[in-house]
Amino acid sequence: MQHHAGWPAMASGTFEAASRRGQIYGGYMAKAKDTVFFCKECGAESAKWSGQCPVCREWNTMVEAPSQSAQRAGAKVMLPGRLLSGAQPKTMSQITAGEEERTATGIEEFDRVLGGGIVAGSLVLVGGDPGIGKSTLLTQVCRRLGLFGCNVLYISGEESLQQIKLRANRLGEFSESVKLLCETDLDIIEEVIKKEAPQVCVIDSVQTMFRPDVSGAPGSIAQVRESTNLLLQIAKGLGISIFVVGHVTKEGVVAGPRMLEHMVDTVLYFEGEPQGPYRILRGVKNRFGSTNDIGVFEMCPEGLKEVRNPSESLLTGRPSDVSGSIVSCSLEGTRPILVEIQALVAKSAFGNPRRSAAGIDYNRLSLLIAVLEKRFGLNFAECDAYINIVGGLKIRETALDLAVAIALASAHLDFVVPSDVIAIGEVGLAGEIRNVGQTEARINEARKMGFKKCIVPASSLKSLKNTDGLNIIGARNIKEAIVAARS
Ligand code: TYD
Ligand code: MG
Repeated sequence: MQHHAGWPAMASGTFEAASRRGQIYGGYMAKAKDTVFFCKECGAESAKWSGQCPVCREWNTMVEAPSQSAQRAGAKVMLPGRLLSGAQPKTMSQITAGEEERTATGIEEFDRVLGGGIVAGSLVLVGGDPGIGKSTLLTQVCRRLGLFGCNVLYISGEESLQQIKLRANRLGEFSESVKLLCETDLDIIEEVIKKEAPQVCVIDSVQTMFRPDVSGAPGSIAQVRESTNLLLQIAKGLGISIFVVGHVTKEGVVAGPRMLEHMVDTVLYFEGEPQGPYRILRGVKNRFGSTNDIGVFEMCPEGLKEVRNPSESLLTGRPSDVSGSIVSCSLEGTRPILVEIQALVAKSAFGNPRRSAAGIDYNRLSLLIAVLEKRFGLNFAECDAYINIVGGLKIRETALDLAVAIALASAHLDFVVPSDVIAIGEVGLAGEIRNVGQTEARINEARKMGFKKCIVPASSLKSLKNTDGLNIIGARNIKEAIVAARS
């Protein structure tokens, strides 16, 4: 049976279309079906098309793709360790396992996120928005590995060798053990990898790679799945660490199907506001370490620089004596980072007031404005309100609520919050200040950076042990917190 060119790119079709195909292919279906339907969100597989995914209940996510059995035999998912143990079950005590073999790159912010270095034979997905700096980061990693004499192969399907060279010129000298290849055909890539036998290989990006024997355009579900499958086999079979770049699509999921995340060992996201200089590397899945650590980088003309002390970098150049500014502490993984929150409240020129949130969730800003209106009596109905987290960081933590609310009140009422004040806490709908995790770690960071006064949830006071040198004020509600910030 023939595959239609561009199967997966086709609209998922209708019930009628699906059942018509069912009739046409009816005779074959009992034996081996050539196409199945996939949920773009959860990767669930189904023989029939339906408007709603039977597993994750999302609507309009089922798309058609060639089934795995229709692919060549080698397309089976390769399990790590299958090579070593065969199909013989073993007891825990029969299995010997030492520490994984790791290679540190010397880029500490990067090594830490991986759990201490690159694990041999691991497949790592590096996701992020286009233009955020994934290629730059991985080129720098390759450069560092090359300096240690490690054999590295960088395969790009997105840029020409000249473009890569232009970028590399800004990053410094490269050793002879770093090699480049521009290729998108994975069969050729497989051969080259086998021949070159590098210790580390970069595939930039998975969306540009294709296997000629799999139908569908590069970037389609079937291609991404089968490409990753092949890379997994290469990584596990040959013990090569492979980094795969994946662009984040509009839905915020790498390459459409979540299944990509399930297949790889480690998923790292590189994120930040493209306009700002700061970037955060975050582990969202790691089979060889915790996902509690983040790496902070700054994009400079000479590439990405490590930021060892993010609080200090983020707070330099902070204006004093300006209303609408206050510092809070976000806990990224296990790492407390002090960030400045700025608010601007201005009279709306038109009847429809504007709200803008850079770095925090827009809905959270609306909620905090509503709480300030209802529980504190501030009127925002005729005001535009803007919030910005300085440095271009994106922070999802609710621990910043209190600081955002104080910044808004400070901007609206035009009072200056002294520059040595920090506020931590979640704001509830009743205007109450709620406890957040690890307040102690946050105030320790504030002390280190020279802050004197900490406004924290009143309920967290008894859990704080070391408050030396700090004036800790426990606030029960938004009113008390704003009064404390003013004085
Ligand atoms: P890039 O690594 O190409 O992004 P991605 O692979 O995630 O799509 O980085 C793109 C941006 O980084 C580009 O807009 C310019 C900026 N950049 C610098 O500011 N300094 C540098 O030294 C380099 C190499 C890039
Ligand atoms: Mg790139």
